[in-house]
Amino acid sequence: EHYSVAVIAGDGIGPEVMAEGLKALQAVERVHNWIRFDIRCLDWNCGYYARHGRMMPDNGLEILRDFDAILLGAIGAPDVPDHISVWELILPIRRRFHQYVNLRPIKLLKGLESPLRHKGQAELDFVVVRENTEGEYSNMGGRLHAGTPYELAIQNNVFTRFGVERVIRYAFSLAQSLGRKRVTAATKSNGINHSMPFWDEVFRDVSRSHPEIRTDLFHIDALAAYFVSRPEIFDVVVASNLFGDILTDLGAAVVGGLGLAPSGNINPEREYPSMFEPIHGSAPDIAGKGIANPIATIWSVSMMMDHLGHREMGQLLLDGIEEVLVEGVVRTPDIGGRATTSEMGDAIVNSIMRK
Ligand code: NAI
Ligand code: MG
Repeated sequence: EHYSVAVIAGDGIGPEVMAEGLKALQAVERVHNWIRFDIRCLDWNCGYYARHGRMMPDNGLEILRDFDAILLGAIGAPDVPDHISVWELILPIRRRFHQYVNLRPIKLLKGLESPLRHKGQAELDFVVVRENTEGEYSNMGGRLHAGTPYELAIQNNVFTRFGVERVIRYAFSLAQSLGRKRVTAATKSNGINHSMPFWDEVFRDVSRSHPEIRTDLFHIDALAAYFVSRPEIFDVVVASNLFGDILTDLGAAVVGGLGLAPSGNINPEREYPSMFEPIHGSAPDIAGKGIANPIATIWSVSMMMDHLGHREMGQLLLDGIEEVLVEGVVRTPDIGGRATTSEMGDAIVNSIMRK
């Protein structure tokens, strides 16, 4: 079986962690020798921008369309404004390919300790479904009276019935397929009085077709606090683009940090390729030192396997990661060790090959 995978390693630590992600992919090929991943590396990053004045070729999205999946390292460099690097590469991919679900597991891996030390291992295991194409990141609005005391900035939030309904439906069917019992929605209908009551209404409508699943609607501020004080109450959490963005960085922090947090930008209908990436950025503060943690990227590769329908391979990768963490010998500095990025990657590859 063949899959074509486009790889955008990106900037900073992106290429460093992606090298380890690809090693892990090759390890899976060696264990299951009937599967092949045809990799095509694309050099679309801030260096490409410096040479060409854009983040990807004009037909970039057409090129990507033909792949079964996309792997992304991280994008962003100090000399290119983020509104260019992110808005002209990552967001067009998410939108053009209707990757309206941003899936982020919040799970404490075996062998790691959460900063929430009073919470047990088993109680930190849930999934955040973040809306990924509309909401607060609308690109609509504007600024008036620049530089005067009357200056004002307006950013519109866009919530469509189509967009809200499909992401909430996805959250419920995910809960069902994972055998989980609760779906929690993030809201703020006490302060945001048009879009959030609408979000709540759609949530209640959709929940009626899943009577077996328990539902909660929490205001985002309280919900954020519960991530720390009561994380055991969550199975699947569904949130708008901005709320989901903030919740998932918080979630990453409670399970050990950004170096461990993977994500999938999913097109559930599979009409277009989905994209898998660590949630961290290009980390200019540690780029070039060879000390970035590759686990978030390898876990993202594992999520790609799940999405391609090979859950046993996704599990193989995750087991490989956990085995190395449990042994506790090879660790990058962010999780308390002195290993390099490639030593960490090699240890995970070896553990996969032993299985
Ligand atoms: P960042 O995620 O790059 O770094 C935040 C902190 O976490 C830094 O101290 C960094 O050293 C640490 N860190 C991140 N990943 C790590 C890893 N794998 N191992 C060990 N430590 C790790 O966020 P920051 O500094 O706000 O942004 C840097 C650049 O990345 C900016 O240009 C930003 O726009 C971009 N960015 C890109 C994203 C993407 O490609 N999807 C997502 C977030 C930020
Ligand atoms: Mg973020």
